Amino acid sequence: MSEQIVYLNGQWMPLSEAKVPVLDRGFIFGDGIYEVVPAYDRVPFRWSQHLARLKRSLSKIGITNPHTDEQWTALVSELIAKHEWQDQFVYMHITRGVAKRDHAFPKGITPTVFAMANPFVPVAEATRAQGIAAVTLPDERWFKCDIKSISLLGNVLARQAAADADATECVMFRDGYMTEGSASNVWVVRNGVVLGAPRDHLVLEGIRVSLLEELCQRAGVPLELRRITREEVHAADELMVSSATKEVLAVTTLDGQPVGHGEQAGKPGPVYARIYAAYRAAIAANIAQTRTAEAA
Ligand code: PDD
Repeated sequence: MSEQIVYLNGQWMPLSEAKVPVLDRGFIFGDGIYEVVPAYDRVPFRWSQHLARLKRSLSKIGITNPHTDEQWTALVSELIAKHEWQDQFVYMHITRGVAKRDHAFPKGITPTVFAMANPFVPVAEATRAQGIAAVTLPDERWFKCDIKSISLLGNVLARQAAADADATECVMFRDGYMTEGSASNVWVVRNGVVLGAPRDHLVLEGIRVSLLEELCQRAGVPLELRRITREEVHAADELMVSSATKEVLAVTTLDGQPVGHGEQAGKPGPVYARIYAAYRAAIAANIAQTRTAEAA
């Protein structure tokens, strides 16, 4: 395959030619936000929700949205069309722009807009069947985790600590309560109920949070977002993570111990299996709906 084509400030170019000035505030301060949108069979999944979060993140850090909804949608469609992969990830990245280094917002600068597509590499079947290992860690990030900020040092250090412990993800705790993973939301299953952290400033509201609410409601599985203690996490029947890249994935060991009880311990559980099947069905329905609309 020829080189990826990326979008930078209104222009399309090969990835290797995309350059930003060193005084870009994204480079200097991590002053920007991003989005990661999956597209299956070339159809973005939960696009309107991703776009809404992108706009929320921009507004929370005072960057004027540089595009209309129609322009963002066209940009993503064009990016997907330029690549041959059926399943892709679109990565979008907006910084405050280029200016002389000074912490306060400079006046009158233009945001930098970058977008690229990558092939969607699904979680390997063997990994999906086995589930992943996670470790618990203190959440040492800032207090605005609801913003999808490109300043990801806390997340990077947490992911590396998990990797150093031969784990794929971490489950972080702040003041005794579960927050999220380094790049995913975390779900606890206890007594048939799916539990997730509340929507607040301590976690990123993943696009899969409202999706899981919908899927669980349809499947008759109770779901609650509330504060979850460390004891509840360690006593879980099942643990799961969700993200654009991992979709929904079972966590089968925590701090080296099998998750769950009895026969089921250390294996992806039945609630995970139901939610994952519903997740795949939602993707298929989204594709079918789009094809029907295109044909009309
Ligand atoms: N990360 N929490 C954090 C800290 C995340 O970075 C992510 C996603 C999520 C899940 O959000 P969503 O369901 O919208 O993907 C939760 C992306 C995939 C990333 O940084 O690559």
